[in-house]
Amino acid sequence: MKYSIPEININLFAIKKNYLYLKKLCNKTEVASSVKASSYGLGGQKKIIQSLKSAGCKNFFVAQLSEGIILRKLFKNIHINVLNGLLKGEEKIFFKYQLTPILNDYSQFQRWNKFLKNKKKNRLIIHFDTGMCRLGVQSEDAKKLFKQIHNIRKYKYVLIMSHLASSSNIKDKYNNIQRKRFEKIKKDFSGFNYSLASTGGIYLGKKFHYDMVRPGINLYGGYQFCDKNIKNVVSMRSPIIAINKLKKGETCGYNQTFRAKKDMFTATIPMGYADGFGLRLSNKGFVFFKGNRLRMIGRISMDTIIIDITNIKKLIKIGDFVEIYNDKFTIDKFAKLTGTIPYRVICCISDRFTKNYLC
Ligand SMILES: Cc1ncc(COP(=O)(O)O)c(C=O)c1O
Repeated sequence: MKYSIPEININLFAIKKNYLYLKKLCNKTEVASSVKASSYGLGGQKKIIQSLKSAGCKNFFVAQLSEGIILRKLFKNIHINVLNGLLKGEEKIFFKYQLTPILNDYSQFQRWNKFLKNKKKNRLIIHFDTGMCRLGVQSEDAKKLFKQIHNIRKYKYVLIMSHLASSSNIKDKYNNIQRKRFEKIKKDFSGFNYSLASTGGIYLGKKFHYDMVRPGINLYGGYQFCDKNIKNVVSMRSPIIAINKLKKGETCGYNQTFRAKKDMFTATIPMGYADGFGLRLSNKGFVFFKGNRLRMIGRISMDTIIIDITNIKKLIKIGDFVEIYNDKFTIDKFAKLTGTIPYRVICCISDRFTKNYLC
């Protein structure tokens, strides 16, 4: 029965609008899309990538080889770049599916270059570490790579990239430290294409844009605090599956963490910590119904949350939907409420929920 399951609505038109807005903001710089982890948990890769493609996106970034293969089976004529690099023995698979490994150390370059020896050398992407110590060529390997610059120049298209650690904070001095390190790399490896910014970096200004930016979260409606023109994409609502009376002095939920100070009515919605809603929301979170804010009471259970409907008892019934996040109470705000980041809110959308892709 469809009405007993929470629903996630994903607005494909808003994704496209966000892409086009970022394109306008970045002027001549190419805007690629980060679609890793199945477009940050939103799924529906065919529809989401089709929307981005129709807005003009040609370059897509995923994290894992397996994600790249899935995308390639869906789309023939897009560039798919794999952030986690090229592990030993994967060369043939990358080649077969025409995926571009993002090379993260010298040995990856050596192997890939050797593998492509007599083959066409079309695309090469090298990630340099400028201060995350996560992925990317570090200084010793950069020196070795520099000695291979004649081989790097044999490729038709070369992208030199890095990633910012603190770009969500415009004022953080580390952004410029990393940019200067990147400038030094650009000087050594000159005459190629360059990319440093993801969503946060776009708002640090033109100096950070280079030839390509690689936003993710902004496309999906997160980080609206960067720019109010970014449209909300994801909304979540849940049906009510039970309504109960809670008498004055009685408690609700595990461990009796909420005791009624008066006679009350409660409603139960079918989502809980098994769906990623942490205990932190216990007696603290809220949902919305026709403009009314309804607080969560008692401890969050594995599969259910109890809400206080005392003030609107006459307006609400089993099967009605309450809203968890929407265009007004966005994923950014919901993330703040739950002590996390909007990335995690959408990446962890439960498999038990229905996902609707709206055009
Ligand atoms: C290397 C790289 N580029 C781009 C992105 C997209 O970042 P954002 O979602 O902040 O725009 C990520 C995300 O983690 C990343 O790791």
